Amino acid sequence: MSQLTEQEPGLLRESSVDYRDPEKGRAVRTMFAGIAHCYDRLNHILSFNRDKAWRRIAVKMTTVPAGARILDVCCGTGDMALAYYAGGIKSGGQPATISGADFTPEMLAIARPKSERVRAGIAWLAADTLQLPFPSNHFDVCSVAFGIRNVQDVSAGIAEMTRVLKPGGQVVILEFTQPKGRLMQRLCRWYLTRMLPRIGHVLSRSKEKAYSYLPDSIALFPGPDELKAIMEARGLKDVRFRLLTFGLVSVHIGTKRS
Ligand SMILES: C[S@@+](CC[C@H](N)C(=O)[O-])C[C@H]1O[C@@H](n2cnc3c(N)ncnc32)[C@H](O)[C@@H]1O
Repeated sequence: MSQLTEQEPGLLRESSVDYRDPEKGRAVRTMFAGIAHCYDRLNHILSFNRDKAWRRIAVKMTTVPAGARILDVCCGTGDMALAYYAGGIKSGGQPATISGADFTPEMLAIARPKSERVRAGIAWLAADTLQLPFPSNHFDVCSVAFGIRNVQDVSAGIAEMTRVLKPGGQVVILEFTQPKGRLMQRLCRWYLTRMLPRIGHVLSRSKEKAYSYLPDSIALFPGPDELKAIMEARGLKDVRFRLLTFGLVSVHIGTKRS
């Protein structure tokens, strides 16, 4: 992780979340509680609506057996779980049982009515990704979209996601990453450090500087190869990844070893 910080020294900005702080979980929860009301709108605006396509692609890349049990962690306002629901409807297969877990109740409060509106029957629960209240070997798919970067210990979070999976089940991680080319890196740095925090602060009025935290957390997150190595070290095999939108986002998928 420190490698990325050295590569991109200009990306780090002051935010109210300290990554090395064991209390990071509480700060992250407070921050998301403060922006829950406008999270979806800002997501769509700041990503130029690409966030919906990114989730759809991740769902398409997942192998979902008939009648699968799916768990989406750090589910926030529920769009990834809802994308699995929509993907299941399109494929016309036996419907999956879908659960969404997040430790910020304010985010879940937005997710619930959204799924009720489409009668998705998704079970929402307040839970920490580092301590999931499920038995081992239970789910066929455990996904996380733009969430694992926020978990205090990324590797431990992936280990916990893997624990609740059945052998042969898949962990799916959709996350921001730093693009490779110089030009894209510059453009990305300009957008993330100059534009996004300003638009984000104005529209969200976040006291916790949530939209300065975003570029910081991306800068500190492992690159695609490093993330793949972490997944392999945590019990996943056949780990592959695909880069999306000029390498700004990655989808990693790995299968739990038997
Ligand atoms: C950027 S949002 C992503 C929401 C959603 N998955 C999406 O695709 O938009 C990150 C979410 O992760 C949650 N989160 C962060 N750390 C967590 C943890 N340790 N356990 C559970 N949820 C966590 C936050 O509460 C927040 O809702």
